[in-house]
Amino acid sequence: MKFFIDTANLDQIREAQDMGVLDGVTTNPSLMAKEGISGEQNIINHYKKICEIVDGDVSAEVISTDYEGIIKEGEMLAALHPQIVVKVPMIKDGIKAIKYFSNKGIRTNCTLVFSIGQALLAAKAGATYVSPFIGRLDDISTDGVELIAQIVEMYSYYGYATEVLAASIRHTMHIIQCMEVGADVATCPLDAIKGLLNHPLTDIGLAKFLADYKKLNG
Ligand code: E4P
Repeated sequence: MKFFIDTANLDQIREAQDMGVLDGVTTNPSLMAKEGISGEQNIINHYKKICEIVDGDVSAEVISTDYEGIIKEGEMLAALHPQIVVKVPMIKDGIKAIKYFSNKGIRTNCTLVFSIGQALLAAKAGATYVSPFIGRLDDISTDGVELIAQIVEMYSYYGYATEVLAASIRHTMHIIQCMEVGADVATCPLDAIKGLLNHPLTDIGLAKFLADYKKLNG
């Protein structure tokens, strides 16, 4: 399973990259705003900085909601760097734009997906990634991980190449659950990734190994 980090914070992206297990980055307008990045040129520069830090795919989201606008913005974003994946919302014009981008060899991430029907449309349009938001589903008492499982099964049954990118991950257990149902990618907050490191028996075992070494070696 690939790990993306779900942030526009450069320090967090660097920390995840330094761990050696990072496969990419996802951003969205809210995450950019959280870092205080505003204005088209600043946003473009920020995407370029992210691409310089990581080796993998970097999702850059369009703001337009009409077909022509999505195409114009998406082509501009895709031309910024080969690692850029154009993030397009799950709306009618978005699906049409994903089909256009797919025909042109521009990679896409279909975002704001909350149902298996939406995931079917994204795959039929040729999206590179589909992003079901599991945390936001959990927030309304709907099982987000179950949706990931359904989409993974449906894509496998029909042989769609679209990768299932579990998004809106809130904690470490979400990553484990997405892995168990076969998500291709999990995009996670840094703390959720770091949570995978933790086990009390590791801490106890390491302390004992080091203490035993110290007894004989000083
Ligand atoms: C990433 O692609 C999504 O935009 C992000 O995971 C949404 O997360 P949130 O529901 O925590 O805002």
